Amino acid sequence: MTEKGKQGEGKTALITGATSGIGREFARVLAQRGYRLILVGRRHGRLEEIKESVSVPVRIITADLSQESQCRQLLHDLDDEQIDLFINDAGFGDCGRFVRTSLDKDVSMIHVNIIAMHILFKGILKKMTARGTHGSGQILNVASAAGLMPGGPFMATYYATKAYVTSLTRAVSVELREMHSHVHVSALCPGPVNTEFNEHADVVFALKGISAQQCVREAMAGLAAHRLIIVPSFTMKIAMAGQRLLPACLTVHLAGMQQKRKMG
Ligand SMILES: NC(=O)c1ccc[n+]([C@@H]2O[C@H](COP(=O)([O-])OP(=O)(O)OC[C@H]3O[C@@H](n4cnc5c(N)ncnc54)[C@H](OP(=O)(O)O)[C@@H]3O)[C@@H](O)[C@H]2O)c1
Repeated sequence: MTEKGKQGEGKTALITGATSGIGREFARVLAQRGYRLILVGRRHGRLEEIKESVSVPVRIITADLSQESQCRQLLHDLDDEQIDLFINDAGFGDCGRFVRTSLDKDVSMIHVNIIAMHILFKGILKKMTARGTHGSGQILNVASAAGLMPGGPFMATYYATKAYVTSLTRAVSVELREMHSHVHVSALCPGPVNTEFNEHADVVFALKGISAQQCVREAMAGLAAHRLIIVPSFTMKIAMAGQRLLPACLTVHLAGMQQKRKMG
C-alpha cells in the first residue's frame, strides 16, 4: 500500500448519498485510502455492489433521508461508531419555474438538502467535538456553487437550499475555531458534475460538467488543506470569484439565463 493509501487506515468514513455520483466516488477513493466505510442511501442493492467492489470493511445503512424520523434513527444507529470523516452528500435538485414546480418535490428537497443535512451535521459534529480535549474529525457538507450565489431563477428552491448549507458551514467553522477545536468543517461547492443529478432535476440540457472523479480529487485536496469553501475546477473558481464583483441583481439574472437553458 502507498503512503497515500495508508491515510485512512484505522479510520471510519460515513458517506450519505453513497449510491451514486459524487458520494459513490468518495466511497471508492476513501476505500482506496484504507478507510472503513459506513454507506447510506435508499438503494440497498447499489450499496451492496459498492461493498463487494472494495477491500475495506463496509457497513450499509438504508435510509430515506427525506423522513426526519429516519435521520434521527440513523444518528441513533451510529451511537457506537467513531466517525473520523463525514461526507454529508445526499441531495437533489429540481428545475423549472417556481410557480410550476411540484410543491411535494420542493418539500422533499428541503427535507433532504436542509433538514437531513442539518440533523446529521449537528449529530456527527457533537460526537466529534466530544472526543478528547479538543475533539477530532472532519465534515464535508456537499453544497454547490449555487450556494455561493445570491439566487438562481428556474432552480430557485435548489439554490436556496444550498445557500443554507454554505451559510451554516461558514458559521459553524468560526465557532469551532473560537473553541480551539481540532474538528474541521468544509462546504464543497461544485458547478455541474456529470452524475445522475440531472435525471432527478428534470434537466434536459445542461452545461458540460466535470467528472465525479475530478470533483472528489479536488475535494480531497481541499479537505487535506482544511479549506472552508472548496470549489472544484479552475473555471468555476474564476466564475465564483468573478460573480462576487457584480451587483447581486445582475448575478441572479445571469444565473437565471443559465438555468433557463437547462429547461429545454
Ligand atoms: N451533479 C451536480 O451537478 C452537482 C453540483 C453541485 C452540487 N451537487 C450536490 O452533490 C450531491 C450529490 O449529488 P450527485 O451529483 O452525486 O447526484 P446523484 O448522482 O443523483 O446522487 C444523489 C445521491 O443522493 C441520495 N439521495 C437523494 N435523495 C435521498 C433520500 N431521500 N434519502 C437518502 N438519500 C438520498 C441518492 O441516493 P438514493 O437515491 O439511493 O437514496 C444518491 O446517492 C447533492 O447534494 C447535490 O446537490 C451536485
